[in-house]
Amino acid sequence: MRRTLRKAKKLGNRSSDLARQYLAGISDQLSGIREIKTNALERSRLSWLESISADIHEEQYEFLKLRSQSQSAYQAVSAILIALFLFVFVHMLHTRLEQLILIVLIFSRLWPRFTGIQSNLEQIASYLPSLRSVLGIQADCRAAAELSFGDETKAEGMAIRHALECRSVYYRYDIARPHYALRNINLSIPALGMAAVVGRSGAGKSTLIDLLMGLTTPEQGTIAIDGIPLTQERLHAFRQSVGYVPQDPFLFNDTIRNNLLLVKQDATEDELWECLAFSASADFVRKLPQGLDTFIGDRGVRLSGGERQRLVLARAILRKPSILILDEATSALDSENELKIQEALEKLRGRMTLVVIAHRLSTIRGANQVIVLDQGAIVQSGSFSELAAEKKGLFGSLLENQTLAASG
Ligand SMILES: Nc1ncnc2c1ncn2[C@@H]1O[C@H](COP(=O)(O)OP(=O)(O)O)[C@@H](O)[C@H]1O
Ligand SMILES: [Mg+2]
Repeated sequence: MRRTLRKAKKLGNRSSDLARQYLAGISDQLSGIREIKTNALERSRLSWLESISADIHEEQYEFLKLRSQSQSAYQAVSAILIALFLFVFVHMLHTRLEQLILIVLIFSRLWPRFTGIQSNLEQIASYLPSLRSVLGIQADCRAAAELSFGDETKAEGMAIRHALECRSVYYRYDIARPHYALRNINLSIPALGMAAVVGRSGAGKSTLIDLLMGLTTPEQGTIAIDGIPLTQERLHAFRQSVGYVPQDPFLFNDTIRNNLLLVKQDATEDELWECLAFSASADFVRKLPQGLDTFIGDRGVRLSGGERQRLVLARAILRKPSILILDEATSALDSENELKIQEALEKLRGRMTLVVIAHRLSTIRGANQVIVLDQGAIVQSGSFSELAAEKKGLFGSLLENQTLAASG
């Protein structure tokens, strides 16, 4: 019994492994269908599918084989036992036949229960690895939980009155490696101002934004709002007052209206159009056949990248956040629409705190404070004109490259 149980456990390990690979591969395949088609990867993806299907098939087959083997072993043993039993009782103890038949009958009714125990044990043994990984995921989720269910409705927005600060913040993605994504970050973003974060790609800009919003916590140092550290308890209240437009905007598979109403259920029609106008999207929404009630598909696939960005911006504004964070939110826009957004941001100045990451430095011309990141550290900071004057710095060279590109 023990040997087959060990085997069943091993098969269970393999089956949960295979299931994981299969699900990950299939979802990659579906979301990467463009890459597959344009790079003519159909054949290799198909052979991957065939090979993993064959593995799953074999694993299932092994398991069935194991079960029927142990069952047939049990049956053989039971036949021998009954034969022995009859022999001993009839020949040596001279028991009466009707008694024997009764005993055999009882025995034959009981026996399947025993074999049942074995096959159930095998089944359990094969499920153990899956159970273990589910329990592991549950424990991870509990450890990472930010608040208990129901608390989120209680949180009131928390406006910034003075400043949002980072004090000696260090962060790395992989604790096991010495590479820090951010090192010794000290900064203070005054309330109602406009701060810009610039730097080459991979410098750590998005990482800094994640920390500022409390999506990740620093390994060392603190993030503070008006001088009070951002702790777990205050996190949710703080996020209620943040409007965020990420680098890859996300929209739900629903209508434009519902995507907007998601963040503010009681918004009026006028409010919706006001936000759309603000984000330079009113025109294209008006032109859609069903206007606000147009379905936009999975992740908004029926819109262009720039249209998606503008809708996510509209959604961020709708909540009237006290701090608005744009992470390269204008990267997919043409210069005309970018100019519109730039003007709109200008109008928001003094009404909310703005933190803007932009590749095109023209977008951040109006910033009170520009923070230049390079390889995870702040290398320069100051006003736009101050930094532009320092020809030797990284900002100067970024600026020069863009002016060259624009004039060339
Ligand atoms: N989820 C992640 N896991 C591990 N490393 C990451 C992750 N996200 C970003 N990085 C690394 O951290 C660095 C900074 O990334 P990021 O903040 O996204 O740069 P950017 O300035 O372009 O926004 C990069 O070197 C990147 O490779
Ligand atoms: Mg980024």
